[in-house]
This record gives sequence, structure tokens and C-alpha cells, in this order.
Amino acid sequence: MCGIVGVVGAPSSGDLGEVILSALERLEYRGYDSAGIALVDSLGEVYRERRADRRASVAELRSLDLPSASVGIGHVRWATHGRPTVENAHPLVDCSGQLAVVHNGIIENHLELAEALACRGHRFRSETDTEVIAHLVEEGLAEGVDLLGAVRQALGVLQGAFALAVMAACAPDRLVAARRVSPLLVGLGDGVGVVGSDVAALIGETRDLAVVEDDQVVEVRAGSLRALDAAGVPVTLAPLRVDWDLAAAKRSGFPDFMSKEIAEQPEAVRQTLLGRALPDGRLRLDEMRLADAELREVDKVIIVACGSSFHAGMVAKYAIEHRARLPVEVDIASEFRYRDPIVDSRTLVVGVSQSGETIDTLQALRAARTWGARVLVISNVVDSSMAREADAVLYTHAGPEIGVAATKTFLAQVVAMELLGLYLAEVRGILFPTELEEPLARLAGLPGIVGEAVERSVEVAKVADALAASRDFFFIGRHVGYPVALEGALKLKEISYLRAEGFPAGELKHGPLALLDEGSVVVAVATRSRLWEKVVANIAEVKARGARVVGVVNDGDERTAELVDHVLSVPRTAPLLTPAVDVVPLQLLAYHLAKRRGLDVDRPRNLAKTVTVE
Ligand code: AGP
Repeated sequence: MCGIVGVVGAPSSGDLGEVILSALERLEYRGYDSAGIALVDSLGEVYRERRADRRASVAELRSLDLPSASVGIGHVRWATHGRPTVENAHPLVDCSGQLAVVHNGIIENHLELAEALACRGHRFRSETDTEVIAHLVEEGLAEGVDLLGAVRQALGVLQGAFALAVMAACAPDRLVAARRVSPLLVGLGDGVGVVGSDVAALIGETRDLAVVEDDQVVEVRAGSLRALDAAGVPVTLAPLRVDWDLAAAKRSGFPDFMSKEIAEQPEAVRQTLLGRALPDGRLRLDEMRLADAELREVDKVIIVACGSSFHAGMVAKYAIEHRARLPVEVDIASEFRYRDPIVDSRTLVVGVSQSGETIDTLQALRAARTWGARVLVISNVVDSSMAREADAVLYTHAGPEIGVAATKTFLAQVVAMELLGLYLAEVRGILFPTELEEPLARLAGLPGIVGEAVERSVEVAKVADALAASRDFFFIGRHVGYPVALEGALKLKEISYLRAEGFPAGELKHGPLALLDEGSVVVAVATRSRLWEKVVANIAEVKARGARVVGVVNDGDERTAELVDHVLSVPRTAPLLTPAVDVVPLQLLAYHLAKRRGLDVDRPRNLAKTVTVE
């Protein structure tokens, strides 16, 4: 996700450019691989500066001597389409350079639009999806339409998600903003009108905000807001009074980043799915530098990853083997290089890493390449080290994940793995494009299902209360429930420091059962799969030895609910997607137990968000 801000008028708090930079500093948690600002200066010209120096970008803009201005827009970028370079940094401009746009979201049909605009003579300067907006608005203005009308006209052909703000030298007293899916707020402060991606962008100028809803367009002036719906009918925006302090604003009001990022999971899944299905029904990855013929030569897949990404890789084994009928091995990255694996040019090695920088995984991929393998990376960071070195990349679009414990990136990885399995099946002729419709429809419903699970935090907190005195936890599951059990155990141990271990449910009797005693807690992933009866048998097995059982149970499954001591209920979904749903209450359980122990869930002891040491 990116952060946008727009200001028009004469801020009482300082120069307009400074106000925008301060807002960008507050928005940096939304994305920090590049930043930029555009102003209409006192000469009526558009002034634009951009930097792509990762976390230093906004600071570098601060060092500039900005002109006084009547309107301006700013942007902090978390790259999704186009590398994090200055050329791709927002604001982006039209052919004249006198109209600028900032955008958060994904324009799904940008390739078709860019092709048509280029045929009409427009010159593109970036690799981004966003630039098409500038050229579309340029065409509206050229037809004599005002800025509001030109933006509305452009929105009519855009598909995908956006929160955007547009300014133009020909309209120095206003800016126009619009929203579809990606959040957008507007407000009037002392002498100014402001727009932004979230509260953090606007809180410096006003706490009296208004929420822009989907397909609404707002013309913002120093003392007025004019909002229209998709049909052009004037609407009144829903007011939003915010009393957060600045720190809380950066977390969108959540007490910590982990709870914010758990809440963002439906959006992370939605963004990862955006734009994947092409008009002809085929699937699109992000950067495919492998020909279909090369992928058809692949006779084995090896997945290498660490931690939560390894657990997502375990889910991928089921997805890829089921969909593409390819044998899949899953390796802990730090072990892979030293086991003398059987790798050759027909091996596809898939690196899974939200940071794209984990050195164990990076080195494993480098080793695989020396053995002739083709390398595909699934990462949450555009242009990360792994992405740059890969033959193909499938980006998750979960946005920056600040909490050390992986949450939304894990779900996005599970979704990406399902997409990869479908992509390989299609390329290899095992599935026709028309046969993708059903699995893609199930994926499209996943954000809503994940949202239902996320909203049950209070229910999970009550279970955490009941377990507050417990000290050792066993997590068990079968099939795709096994990586879920491992991920639930990892979440608990890394943020609560409690002893937690995940097992294949069928493995208990081969040793771990000896550890169980009256105080033990067993968390069983007992949602309705084809192995459900066996998990139920394992529940009986551990209860007979005095364990307290917490069950992850499907809504309405009274039979399983009666077998366990505590229920963590989840909606049903397709078998290969259940890890993205069943893990949510386990994330929340770890979170609530850690909070009850007064621990810092965002920065757990001894751990780093990105492990760049071997
Ligand atoms: C997961 O909660 C941990 N933060 C850790 O295990 C993490 O998944 C692992 O270090 C891999 O990180 P990556 O996805 O950035 O490669």
C-alpha cells in the first residue's frame, strides 16, 4: 500500500509544501521505497521533486528549498507495479508536465489503457499503472472539461482499486480526489482543504474529517468540499471526528501494528488477487521472465523458505501437487544448500520470503541457480534482492508489515501459492482457462471469509483468558492443517515466549504424547476436511490423557464443538484455502496471550523483522 496526501489553500501551520512533507513523514509506515511532492507554485507552474532512496526519501525532500504554492500533492510509495525508482515514484504527470497525480491501489486494466493512450500520442515516462490516470485526465482537460469533470471521465474507464488525488496548473485553487476500494479521507482545516489515505495524513491540519466512499469524487478547495457520486449526483460525506494522538494515527487507531495488520488481512488478500485474471481467462504473475515452454519442461518443484514463509511453502506443496500434478519438496532454506539436493535445469526452485532479503533463503536460491535450476520468488517487496535475482516473481501485495510476527503476509503467501499452482496447471495444459473460473471464484470470496474470522477477536480473547495460566501448548493438524498448526505454534512462541510446538496430529502417538499431562493445552485444527474424523480421534486421544483441548472448528459444527473445551470458530472455505482462514484465530490467540503477559507484540525479544545474518 502507498500513502497519498493533498493540500489546497494557505495553511496557518506553515508553508503548504512543508505541511505536505510532514504528512508524508507520518505516512511513511505505509510505504517507504520512494517519495515525491508536486506543487503549483506562485508562477502557476508545476514544481515536482521525487526521491527513491528507501527510508531516506522523505528526509531528502525535506532538504530542498520548496517554492511557495497554492496547491500540492505528495506520495510515499510501496511499489506494486514498476520498480522503486525515481522514474516510477509519484507524483506522476501527463505529457505537459502541468498535471500531476498520486495514487494508492492497483489499476487492473492499465496495460490496455496505456496502449490506447500511446496510440493517441501520449508519451509514458514510467513503468507504473498510475501514469495512465494523468494522461486520461489530460485528455478530459483538452476537451474543455474542468478538473472535476476530467477526473470523473477518467474514472469511468479505470478498473481496479484507487485512492487518488489530482492537481493541475490550470486549477491552482483546487484539487480533485476519488476513491474505489482503497481508503480516502478529506477534511477542512484552518485555511486549507486536505485529502489523504488515512488519519495520519490529515491529523496535522484537522481532526474533523469525512470518509469518501467507493466511486465518489470530491473537489477540494481552501474552504469547501464538493462531493459527487458515480452518477454525478451531489452527496454529503460521512463525518469522522478523530481524537487519536499522532502515534495512534500511524497505527490507524490500533494499539499496535500486529493487531492493525491482522485487521488488514482481508485487504492484503484482496490486493494480492487484484488484476490476476486476464481478459482471456489466463492468469498473470508479476514478472515472468520464464517462457511457458520452460515451465512445461519443469519436472520438480522445490520450495525454500524460513519461518512463517516455510509454513506457507508447506501449504504450497498441497496446492501445486494438487493443481499442477508436479512433485514438490519443501525445504528449510538454511538446510537446503547443505543436503546436496537433486537439482537441474528441470527443477523450479521457489523462494518464499515476505522481505525478499532473508539471507538463508537468498543464499539457497543462489545455490540452486549454480546447479542449473530456474528460480521463482514470492515476495512482498518489489525489487527486493530475491526479486531482482529471480527468473520470475509473484508479488504479494500485503503492504508493509511492521510487526515482527508475520500475519497478513502469511495469508497473502497462501493466496499467492494457490495462484502459482493454478498458473502452473494452466501453463502445463492440465487446466483449461475456463476451468480456472471456479477456483478463482473461491479465491474472490476469501477476503470476506477472512474478514469474518478477523472480527471474532473478542471470542478468541475469552479463550485466551481461560488459558492465561497455561504454560505449554501443543498444536496439531492434518494435511493443510499441519502447516497451520506449525504457524499457530510459531506465533505463540515468538510473541508470548510460551512453550508451543506444532505436530502432525498422527505423529502424537509416536512420541510427543509422552509430554502430555493435566496442564497441557492442545490446539487442534479440526475444521471439516476429509481427514476430520482422524483429527477427532486425536482429540479423544489427548483428552483421555487429561489435556485441555482448543478446537478450530467450522461455524455450526456442533459435533466437533462438543468434543473440545474451547471453540475457535471459523467460516468454511475451499480445502486449499483453509490455511488462510484457520490460522486467523491462532494469530489472535497468540496476540491476546502475549498482551495479557504485558509483552511488546510488535518487537518481541531476540527477533528481527528481517534476518539478514546466516
Ligand atoms: C514469522 O512470524 C517470523 N517473523 C519469521 O519466522 C519470518 O517468517 C522468517 O524470518 C522469514 O522471513 P521472510 O518471509 O522475510 O523471509
